[in-house]
Amino acid sequence: MGVRKICIINQKGGVGKTTTAVNLAAGLARQGKKVLLIDLDAQGNIQTSIGATSQKSLYHLLIENAEPNECISMLGKNLDILRSDETLTKAETMITKLPESNTSVLKEKLAEINGYDYILIDCAPSLGILNQNAMLYADEAIIPASTDHLGLDALTKMLEAVQNLNDYFDHHLRITRIVPTLYDARVKTCKESLQHLQNDHYELLAEPIRTNSKLKEAPKAMQSIFKYAPSSRGAKDYASLVSAVLSDEAAAQKSNGQHKYAETEA
Ligand SMILES: Nc1ncnc2c1ncn2[C@@H]1O[C@H](COP(=O)(O)OP(=O)(O)OP(=O)(O)O)[C@@H](O)[C@H]1O
Ligand SMILES: [Mg+2]
Repeated sequence: MGVRKICIINQKGGVGKTTTAVNLAAGLARQGKKVLLIDLDAQGNIQTSIGATSQKSLYHLLIENAEPNECISMLGKNLDILRSDETLTKAETMITKLPESNTSVLKEKLAEINGYDYILIDCAPSLGILNQNAMLYADEAIIPASTDHLGLDALTKMLEAVQNLNDYFDHHLRITRIVPTLYDARVKTCKESLQHLQNDHYELLAEPIRTNSKLKEAPKAMQSIFKYAPSSRGAKDYASLVSAVLSDEAAAQKSNGQHKYAETEA
């Protein structure tokens, strides 16, 4: 199959993007998929929570013409990471100042990366230039949405942002899943938010990821939830997201392929 390029994105902070990216990547790798996880957050620091070892980072790839394989390190079986650190902020400033096509830098720099079934991008909470780059590189977006009222507003804004980007750049980023996060069935706001999501986004909605302290602890142990607490609620919920993403494979191949075909035709 061709590679599925998926950005995990929401401009709102703390909604579970990194938790989702890390555990979805680990879960897909456990299912035998070759996965590359890209950290696109200067502050998020996935690497400190899962132990990446490469000397070079995304900054070197974007700005200093480093080769992808110098910046990628192995995290586990079937799972690699392209890490970032604070230097990514500098890269973002430099990219913003480029005279033209500053929205396609990531796409150009990642073009030579191959051999993966999935490339997942953990985005920062922003709609800045790096996230625009991520959305224009990816074919699909997974949007974690926190199950509170602010979470619903943020989701609406995010959906508009994707629509605007697609219109403006004639791009075909498809939202393949909306993932309700930080769900606690005992909390009224959570239940109401989930109900709203079910009404408005039934077809795209994944099963909710429940609040689970093991999900917070796992990164401190530099482990995915599947290794850290395999029988936890968090592991069950992320396993169900992994299955949902895998079940979209056939449809994704079809529509990703169609757009590529349409582009070469035009
Ligand atoms: N289901 C969950 N249960 C309990 N804690 C969670 C859950 N999901 C995420 N968290 C915790 O909530 C915090 C925010 O999660 P996370 O870092 O994944 O969000 P984010 O959207 O990536 O944030 P940012 O926008 O800052 O990058 C973290 O401390 C994380 O461990
Ligand atoms: Mg994050």
